[in-house]
Amino acid sequence: MATQCSPSIFLRFKVIIPLLCLLSIGDMSCSAKSNSKTSNGLQYGFYKHSCPRAELIVHQGVRKAVVEEARMAASLLRLHFHDCFVQGCDGSLLLKTVSGVIESEQEAAPNLNSVRGFDVIDSIKAALESECPGVVSCADILAMAARDSIAVGGGPQYSVLLGRLDSRTANKALANKNLPGFNFNVSDLVASFANVGLSAQDMVALSGGHTIGKAGCDKFAERLTPNSDDPAPLDSSYRKYLSQLCPDGANTETDVNLDVKTPIRFDNAYYSNLLKNRGLLHSDQVLYSTPGFSHDQVLRYAHSNQAWFSDFVRSMTKMGSLDPITAYDQGEIRKNCGYIN
Ligand code: HEM
Ligand SMILES: *[C@@H]1O[C@H](CO)[C@@H](O)[C@H](O)[C@H]1NC(C)=O
Repeated sequence: MATQCSPSIFLRFKVIIPLLCLLSIGDMSCSAKSNSKTSNGLQYGFYKHSCPRAELIVHQGVRKAVVEEARMAASLLRLHFHDCFVQGCDGSLLLKTVSGVIESEQEAAPNLNSVRGFDVIDSIKAALESECPGVVSCADILAMAARDSIAVGGGPQYSVLLGRLDSRTANKALANKNLPGFNFNVSDLVASFANVGLSAQDMVALSGGHTIGKAGCDKFAERLTPNSDDPAPLDSSYRKYLSQLCPDGANTETDVNLDVKTPIRFDNAYYSNLLKNRGLLHSDQVLYSTPGFSHDQVLRYAHSNQAWFSDFVRSMTKMGSLDPITAYDQGEIRKNCGYIN
């Protein structure tokens, strides 16, 4: 496997080889790190005995979905983020509306007609239920699927902390409150991450998740009209290119790559784009265009993929550890990710 992953071949077969490399990581997470519990009760290799093939099954499900549609890697990564920012990483995002019981977070503004990938999570869950019924939580599936989605695009490979239980509640109002908006400035972004216990550094590192995936024209249409008051204006040739992709502005139902340079590669081109004023969302470009800490971090990550990878993994692990449920009287292993048991 080591030779197949060597840089030269890696560059020749940009997407295929990382997919092959992934075949070998099935048991990595069980052997790479010790299984001792962290302070919040999560641990590496949590399913080692209770469902030894759990991580492999998730990995295979992600790989199959991404082969069918490259964008799915991005969609799955985003699900974990939107889950963790709302009452912690507890699978609350996955719950569907049940009148009088659950108001789905999927209907909150940042999620509505935007988050996707639920069918993939459901099919992975079905495979896990047939292998080891009632063992693997939906919240953990999101964390594993995010990890595998990062690796599948050539991003950093890492062991993922597991052992989360699923919530019996969802909170649509909290989703509206906690999820950051695409029109946010740097201080709004810092505050939004601080609100869930993440630092400004986590915010800049995690924003690099926008190295894959797409955003609808309505999320950046305002930026297509040049505005001298805009603190983070677009490069004019990029703006013209985007205007062609969104001829009816916000009413165009097109999704546009967040990373114009390498849209399905998990690399630091997100940051080097910002240096050229080619950040698609306002919330992306402000990181560089606003002088200060975020600007300096963007420069650092643009210049070193390694620096970004290592910070990104650390921040993903931090985000994945937000408020997990680990006490059985507080949560459950859902049978169906969309509904409480
Ligand atoms: C920093 C604040 C953030 C803001 C304001 C933000 C906002 C957005 C918006 C508006 C979209 C496009 C949605 C649509 O058009 O339907 C999007 C997509 C995406 N976001 Fe973020 N996001 C942020 C942070 C993050 C983080 C921390 C991650 C993961 C680590 C992430 C991962 C993604 C991915 C992968 C997509 C593409 C999804 C797809 O193609 O299905 N974002 N984000
Ligand atoms: C950021 O935006 C908020 C409104 O969302 C505003 O109150 C604040 O003054 C802005 N901060 C900067 C530095 O522009």
